[in-house]
Amino acid sequence: MSIRDRFIRTKSSDKSSDELNVSPALEIAQMRRAHIRSIMPIEQQVYPRPWTAQVFVEELEQMRSGKRHYLVGTIEDQLVGYGGLLYVEQDAHVTNIAVHPMWRSRGIATELLLDLAWEANRRGCAAMTLEVRNTNTSAQKLYQRFGFVPAGVRKKYYENRDDAIVMWCTDVQQQEFAARLQQIERSRM
Ligand SMILES: CC(C)(COP(=O)(O)OP(=O)(O)OC[C@H]1O[C@@H](n2cnc3c(N)ncnc32)[C@H](O)[C@@H]1OP(=O)(O)O)[C@@H](O)C(=O)NCCC(=O)NCCS
Repeated sequence: MSIRDRFIRTKSSDKSSDELNVSPALEIAQMRRAHIRSIMPIEQQVYPRPWTAQVFVEELEQMRSGKRHYLVGTIEDQLVGYGGLLYVEQDAHVTNIAVHPMWRSRGIATELLLDLAWEANRRGCAAMTLEVRNTNTSAQKLYQRFGFVPAGVRKKYYENRDDAIVMWCTDVQQQEFAARLQQIERSRM
């Protein structure tokens, strides 16, 4: 997969609008084993039950046989986010998507999810799905922009305490889905 450069939003609280054109470029590339060392501090910081490095190793092995798709986002050589898909029959499950707390609300997760969504579309997946913690409104907002809708609840799914909302996006092969992704791409320009 080719590496693509794009500019990310500057947080409105960070800089004046005059400085928007100097926001750093985000590069998105396929995840490799060498990235795991930089992923782990983020993973451990953002999740109460983080994946181990070994889980990432195994996921990357599955990617080699085409059963997964994982991406990383970097800014000036700093790994700032990552995310991935697991394929089950016709569906693509978003297994993980995380952005370093210092780099949030700049559209980085949106860029990662855009690439994952296009990938699911190109691969011919009928639907995308994921689970999200009921209290994680930021992630839910992100997914809703991509057309994911709540379809069920897994009670006490996280740490035997918080419920998971199961979200589905079932129109991945429809023209509306591509149009939605293009609309999200246009809105960042
Ligand atoms: C959820 C998560 C990945 C979002 O990452 P992010 O890079 O901050 O996400 P984005 O900047 O793309 O979008 C998030 C916000 O920007 C807003 N946004 C995105 N694109 C926008 C645009 N073009 N214009 C204005 N707002 C926009 C979104 O509505 C959202 O609002 P918020 O600031 O209230 O959260 C991040 O918070 C995270 O890593 N959380 C911990 C891990 C986690 O919970 N992962 C999800 C597991 S299901």
